[in-house]
Amino acid sequence: MDSIVVTGNGPLSGQVPIAGAKNACLALMPATLLSDEPLTLTNAPRLSDIRTMTALLQSLGAEVVPLQGGQVLALSSHDLIGHLAHYDIVRKMRASILVLGPLLARAGEAVVSLPGGCAIGARPVDLHLSGLEALGAEMELREGYVHARAPRGGLVGGRVRFPLVSVGATENVLMAATLARGSTVIENAAREPEIVDLARCLRAMGARIEGEGTDRIEVEGVERLSGATHRVVADRIEMGTYMLVPAICGGEVECLGGGLDLLPGFADKLDEAGITVRATEDGVAVSRGNGRVRAVDVTTAPYPGFPTDLQAQMMALLCLADGVSVLEERIFENRFMHAPELMRMGARIEVHGGTARVTGVDRLKGAPVMATDLRASVSLILAALAAQGETVVNRVYHLDRGYERVEEKLSALGAKIERVAA
Ligand code: EPZ
Repeated sequence: MDSIVVTGNGPLSGQVPIAGAKNACLALMPATLLSDEPLTLTNAPRLSDIRTMTALLQSLGAEVVPLQGGQVLALSSHDLIGHLAHYDIVRKMRASILVLGPLLARAGEAVVSLPGGCAIGARPVDLHLSGLEALGAEMELREGYVHARAPRGGLVGGRVRFPLVSVGATENVLMAATLARGSTVIENAAREPEIVDLARCLRAMGARIEGEGTDRIEVEGVERLSGATHRVVADRIEMGTYMLVPAICGGEVECLGGGLDLLPGFADKLDEAGITVRATEDGVAVSRGNGRVRAVDVTTAPYPGFPTDLQAQMMALLCLADGVSVLEERIFENRFMHAPELMRMGARIEVHGGTARVTGVDRLKGAPVMATDLRASVSLILAALAAQGETVVNRVYHLDRGYERVEEKLSALGAKIERVAA
């Protein structure tokens, strides 16, 4: 297993191109199952999770051809051969559950392995199942698989009210509803930019959707969907991560390709912490003067609130703030596993359940640390960039799931960073 070695190297500056969004692409790719015509995705990120979704779709009989070095994906599910999403693929990536709705809508049946456990929380899929049942599907759990069947004649439009906001369940029901007979209303829907991007792509395929980006989405089912070409929205979590580089190290970084509208809650918090954030023609520029970062309190929430996927990275910053910050993780019940690793670098953090109290220190020191999940791994790299001496981050396969060419992008900003093969 590869490791990444980082030596703190002072302020970092320059430009960084932001890739297409992993969490948008993982929902857009299964949309190909809704039509027998080709779907082309441009600005696709080159990540191991995208390769996992590719393998899953290919196992169902879809064609997925990466072009232009993987930044373009040519997808087609003209000849679906099956409707079984096998455990061997699904266990690698929870987002595999996003084939359930499209398969049900197109093929009338689906057998999808339950995703199983996850480091950051229990993450059940009950809302995906109850949402699709509201469209007339019958669900049965058997031997670790969801066996789903649409009524004769296909899914039927209905009213879905989610008791809590779920990105994935909203995406699954949204996709299924596009081919259901009649109209569907999704209430308490997720409002994330990835949902908006999916709705835009589905509309380009001929779907009739209104209200994406609000908590109420309405869908009028159609007979069939056609092909389309769609540009994947920028990855706001990758962008937020790079916005924290100058915040934690000093310097000025411009993130190219994304806008501040993607990260309202996050940008406000950086401002509160004394970090300068401004929109530029091509993206977002972030800088920090010589002063110390101010301590701030953060509570994660669905969009437009503070994203849980930036909580770990924000904790790394607050380890060096002037004062005490309180972070509340409200989305996942076990998402502070980066805290003990940051403490190995000299951070002062007390965790009680979903609350972490961070007392800022003057300096972090390099140490060998262990990545436990995707966002935890990059928070350790951020801390290492600002630390004294050398840090070795182990188990970086987590990182490759969600960050494209991280060493290259950080080296271009002046960082001392290299990957070491085991
Ligand atoms: C998406 O996961 C993202 N993943 C996650 O990013 C992100 O953290 C999360 O949304 C929240 O923003 C992808 O898009 C592939 P949820 P998802 O359903 O859809 C509970 C990353 O780092 N819940 O919005 O799985 C659930 O347990 C990843 O890139 C149910 O109880 O998240 C959680 O507490 C990590 N039952 C809450 O809802 C359900 O059926 C929100 O989960 C579904 C969810």
